Amino acid sequence: MRVLHVAAEVFPLVKTGGLADVVAALPLAQAQQGADVRLLLPGYPAVLEAVQGARSVIDIGACFGALRVRLLLARMPGSKLPVYVVDAPYLYRRGGSPYQDSQGQEWADNLQRFALLGWVAAHLAGDDADPQWVPQVVHAHDWHAAMACAYIREHGATPAATVYTVHNLAFQGLFPMHDWAMLGLGSHLMSPAGLEFHGQLSFMKAGLKCADRITTVSPTYAQEIATPEFGCGLDGVVRGRGAHVLGILNGIDPALWNPATDPAIATRYDAERPAGKADCRRALQQELGLRPDDGALLLTVVSRLTAQKGLDLVLAALPELVQAGVQFAVQGTGEPALEAAFRMAQQAHPGRVHVHIGYDEARAHRLIAGADVIAVPSRFEPCGLTQMYGLRYGTVPVVRRVGGLADTVSDGVTGFTFDAATPGAFERCVLRARAARAAPAEWQGLMTRGMAQELSWAGPARSYDALYREALAAGRASPA
Ligand code: ADP
Ligand code: GLC
Repeated sequence: MRVLHVAAEVFPLVKTGGLADVVAALPLAQAQQGADVRLLLPGYPAVLEAVQGARSVIDIGACFGALRVRLLLARMPGSKLPVYVVDAPYLYRRGGSPYQDSQGQEWADNLQRFALLGWVAAHLAGDDADPQWVPQVVHAHDWHAAMACAYIREHGATPAATVYTVHNLAFQGLFPMHDWAMLGLGSHLMSPAGLEFHGQLSFMKAGLKCADRITTVSPTYAQEIATPEFGCGLDGVVRGRGAHVLGILNGIDPALWNPATDPAIATRYDAERPAGKADCRRALQQELGLRPDDGALLLTVVSRLTAQKGLDLVLAALPELVQAGVQFAVQGTGEPALEAAFRMAQQAHPGRVHVHIGYDEARAHRLIAGADVIAVPSRFEPCGLTQMYGLRYGTVPVVRRVGGLADTVSDGVTGFTFDAATPGAFERCVLRARAARAAPAEWQGLMTRGMAQELSWAGPARSYDALYREALAAGRASPA
């Protein structure tokens, strides 16, 4: 099976969140199961610098406002997975994040930047970009890649099936309707039945409407996005796709996130030799200037600091929890108000609360290995990866029972869950964890069961394979 993954991020080249981890790990798991997998990425500077052996496949010329667009074929560093790179200097060769400038403003030409990505995917799915390798399945991730599904459906005389994975319905890729002409799509799609979303043009809707199959990254989130509470205004569109919407839980990369081999942590350990975890805990307390208190419950948060993640609940419950002997080790970046509030919490509780505003992969590993619990109190969470990293590292998750958190953490068995998005509910849940830690046999059971939980990509990769085969067999429905 030839599969092309289309995405705006891949770890370790470009990462703003879990999407990058998924786009790095899922294709490898599929390749291990015998699939012939390639990636398609925008040619950001970090991508062009990191990929190996790049050669030109085709000169596309001028499109989407860029004078010179080329398609390169290279290999990913490390895994050697083949990767197509859209080299469009005018659109992609710049600093900042993939989506925003250094001031946090969305790039003004994101419509062109990500329409081009989808458009190139559609040409690869036809046989006019690289006749040597034509995918049978185009798997587009999030709104950045969603236009692939629209171009393939509208223009493609291609038998390729399209699968669109929603990693986060809250980020939709909305643009002014007057930019419509730049897309080169028929005007029949320029309506609420097509890509229009309340007077704007929505890339997310292009994926939801035009893909042959839609997946989300956990079964519970698949159900949630069909409801007004979690549907971000698109729940009707999701419901309209009926059985073509499927939740497939993410896995984690067992090589990258493995306490038995992790080069970033103080002492390696696993379920059979758990002693190293206590070393990691001591080393972390020392590194962060937290009191070397064995009795404290050491709680970590590694997260984007945004409303989605529910960290205002942590802030509100923090003073009481510190009183109760809980230590906090927080790492994240995001909304300035949350960053400032966490900095103030550190100042108010020296030796009890440590906050690092910043992004640091190796440090994330040390936090997750050294802490007793990892808190993920999200308001919504399509899947969530850090609670799974916690499970693997014997770091007991305390999570809100929502989305993928509900699908990965079992209350009282592998972690602790709470329902109400209130500081009180979060606080009570942390106190339950603290009580459990005071009973060593109970705590050991929680850790051991979590560490034994199956979290690899093998199962999800098989589920995607079954879905691809089903979509190919069903063929394309008539255009939207
Ligand atoms: P989301 O994609 O919504 O941010 P996930 O839990 O799926 O949430 O993935 C987040 C990823 O980003 C994880 O790999 C996590 O370790 C990483 N991460 C988030 N914030 C930081 C940070 N400040 N430093 C290092 N890694 C981080
Ligand atoms: C998104 C979601 C997160 C998920 C990740 C990878 O960023 O917010 O829940 O784990 O994508 O699928």
